[in-house]
Amino acid sequence: MLNSLTQDITARLQTVLPAAALKDPEPRYLEDPRGRFAGKAGVVVAPSTTEEVAAVVREANAARVPIVPFGGGTGLVGGQVLAEGPMPILLSLERLNRIREVNTDDAVLVAEAGVILATVQDAARERGFLFPLSIASEGSARIGGNLSTNAGGLNVLRYGNCRDLCLGIEAVLPDGNILHGLKRLRKDNTGYDLRHLLIGAEGTLGVITAAALRLFPVPTSQATGYLAVPDPASALALLSMARARLGEAISAFELIAAQALRFLDETGVSYRDPLPERPDWAVLIDVGLSGQGGAGDAAAALEALFEEASAAGLVTDGILASSEAQRADLWHLREVLPEGNKRVGAVASHDVSLPLSRVAEFLDRGRQVIASVADVRINCYGHLGDGNLHYNVFPQPGRKAADYGNVRDALIRAVHDLVADCNGSISAEHGIGRMKVDDLERYGDPAKLAAMRAIKSALDPNGIMNPGAVLKS
Ligand code: LAC
Ligand code: ZN
Repeated sequence: MLNSLTQDITARLQTVLPAAALKDPEPRYLEDPRGRFAGKAGVVVAPSTTEEVAAVVREANAARVPIVPFGGGTGLVGGQVLAEGPMPILLSLERLNRIREVNTDDAVLVAEAGVILATVQDAARERGFLFPLSIASEGSARIGGNLSTNAGGLNVLRYGNCRDLCLGIEAVLPDGNILHGLKRLRKDNTGYDLRHLLIGAEGTLGVITAAALRLFPVPTSQATGYLAVPDPASALALLSMARARLGEAISAFELIAAQALRFLDETGVSYRDPLPERPDWAVLIDVGLSGQGGAGDAAAALEALFEEASAAGLVTDGILASSEAQRADLWHLREVLPEGNKRVGAVASHDVSLPLSRVAEFLDRGRQVIASVADVRINCYGHLGDGNLHYNVFPQPGRKAADYGNVRDALIRAVHDLVADCNGSISAEHGIGRMKVDDLERYGDPAKLAAMRAIKSALDPNGIMNPGAVLKS
């Protein structure tokens, strides 16, 4: 039964929105990819213009009804799923999905929030440009959600995260005012930067409705290698060597543990094992050169790096892709790792970042503290070039994640305490959502938290925007 507040707001929304904007609360709006949260919605609305979004927000603010903004629903920390409190309006951006402009002089693409990330990538490529944000969920994640969570992914090392890829945003603020911030300027020092406030705010300070995104030249020559390393410390030394030799040309530097491949085998995910003998640790590295030399450059540069690193004992084996198909196979392996994890079923997942100088120490100490809490398997992989590790903990064979319910919190605490001790972050790229609100309270800098709360109550005094995400409501 819908309560009367929901009935009232639904009636109001029916008067201010076209019929097409009102949708049934289908299950897809109320789930998260890892099945950890079950949300609710009194009404689902899918406006197709910024003005319609503003109308929804104004109504919600007047009636004090919470709004949960919803992009592709791919968030991993529950930011898009409200389970407690009054019935929210679920505001889906799926129909606000036009590419408004591709301007090759400005190297800018203006996309509305509901455009799927892969569509942005394709539109850029059609015009001869690269939009470098690349994440596993790019076929369904929407750009508004990517910006709201400041998504990172595979190419942050070279191109930065969403904050670095966005020159301007348009947004609806919690009072229903539209922020017109789509200027595409590299330099604009006109006071507080609301763009950077809204990016990464996870829908708690307003709804991003469109963004001016930076485009880059497509590398004229690209090469990919899968290199076996003796240990993570060697992987880090290889990273230093690669950066010293090739600088910005290194666009991805991913760490993969043998455990990740064992999970793929165990759960029947298909992939091609790159090397005849499986190393405990490997690095997937991408080199891209733009506008200089011939097509062989990137491959030659990667080959030279491989030889120098082998001579220095940093690399014990490796394969350099010699065709597009081989390159695709290597990246396919990386892309299916989360599926293997999902099928095994994690006891706890951690998305952490560390100063590069502390990564090896973190991995050593991590093994020890985890072993002192529970008998589990660790699968650590991720964006080593960014110091960002997905440090996930799994049941032993024959057991299930649910068997570890009594140690889950202790495992998370142990890992996050260690991250804090190593001066790292408890959320590198997935955000706080609802899953890490308590962790943010625990590990966040008090002055930062106080400022965040002050900003939240100044912009959203009625607390309608995505309550309970990022900060306690
Ligand atoms: C990845 C996701 C989990 O890197 O962030 O695969
Ligand atoms: Zn990741």
